[in-house]
Amino acid sequence: MWIRLRLDIGWLDLAYAILYGLLPGKREIAVQRARQSWNGQDDFLITLSVRSAFDLLLRALQLPHGSEVLFSALTVPDMVRIAEMHGLVAVPVDTDQVGNVDSNSLRRAISPRSKIVVVAHLYGGRAPLDDVFSIATENHLLVVEDCAQSYCRAGGPAEPQSDIAMFSFGPIKTATALGGAVVRVKSPALRERMAALFATDPIQSRTSFMRRVFRFAALKMISGKWFAAWTQFVVKQLGGDFDRLINSAVRGFSSANLLAQLRRQPSIPLLRLLERRWRFYDFRRIADRIQMGKYLDSCLGLHHAESHSYWIYPIFVPDPVTIRDRLRAAGFDATCQSRMTVVTVADDSRNPTSSIDCWKHILFLPWYPDLPQNAIHEMAIQIRSQAVETGPPGKA
Ligand SMILES: Cc1ncc(COP(=O)(O)O)c(C=O)c1O
Repeated sequence: MWIRLRLDIGWLDLAYAILYGLLPGKREIAVQRARQSWNGQDDFLITLSVRSAFDLLLRALQLPHGSEVLFSALTVPDMVRIAEMHGLVAVPVDTDQVGNVDSNSLRRAISPRSKIVVVAHLYGGRAPLDDVFSIATENHLLVVEDCAQSYCRAGGPAEPQSDIAMFSFGPIKTATALGGAVVRVKSPALRERMAALFATDPIQSRTSFMRRVFRFAALKMISGKWFAAWTQFVVKQLGGDFDRLINSAVRGFSSANLLAQLRRQPSIPLLRLLERRWRFYDFRRIADRIQMGKYLDSCLGLHHAESHSYWIYPIFVPDPVTIRDRLRAAGFDATCQSRMTVVTVADDSRNPTSSIDCWKHILFLPWYPDLPQNAIHEMAIQIRSQAVETGPPGKA
């Protein structure tokens, strides 16, 4: 069984993580070294997660109650919850399959209460932002680039024009450090306000960092081909839901007391692990992933933009459940479930119809650089047996 997910971290990095958890050290030095290994600039903060960074931004902005945050419609539910916990209203902006923002939908979504637009680059792709920037400038909106799924080179990439750019190194991300994030803030005044608030937050404990390391080491152990099949069999025999089990196992924070969990500065061992990941990550893994993606594109007759880094590979098919079951029977742990959601509103006329439709037809394939070419070829055969409705369009 090719499990859907393998953590992008090796045993040596995990061993170092344990060592960092045991060694004493000075926080300022750990922060400085990590900053240097990201890109040495002074325009960013290192936070516990992207969600922590977003919460920090909203704390610093102090927007009037009822202000609107426009979200590209596919994102993780906590981003919306965080906005709501700040008394803000989340408004969806429609996107296509690859997450490109529909400019007309953005224009329609804007009201006098709109203050921020958050655009998530999805699946390893980069959504073009030219229209977003010009509409945002006309309407005095802050542009937040959510790059949680698109890290693919040292220090980036992000658009220089965006007001905020956020990168995640959470458990399922490229070059994971099992946590941590970078938030680049263009305005020095806003950055200083955020830094001042951040400095008052408690520091993540070493114990909680170590617990994470052991949890994810266990998860890594069971993600091998045979162990995964055996685990899935046992879970099924016990009447459990394997999809739900995996999704909750990789969850970074529990839903209770979310803000309290987010408002933590990264611990020294986490900062050291981030430094290590940024300094030594083998970017050939991303090059391999891109090659795999292009190969599967050619097998399925699909096309992705040149800049795509294929963090994950979703397909859009008329009947995802049938293909999922067929793939599972052939030993591929495909899933229709994901930690993302479509942002919706009570007023149905403002709902993002295209994103809702994509979400009904999405299927995520097992995807990591360790998949051999013959496994990808076999997946393509299984998928082709039911026609691909429409592949991700190949816009740049
Ligand atoms: C689009 C998007 N935004 C935000 C996040 C949250 O990132 P973090 O786990 O660092 O809070 C994720 C995590 O999967 C994501 O995919």
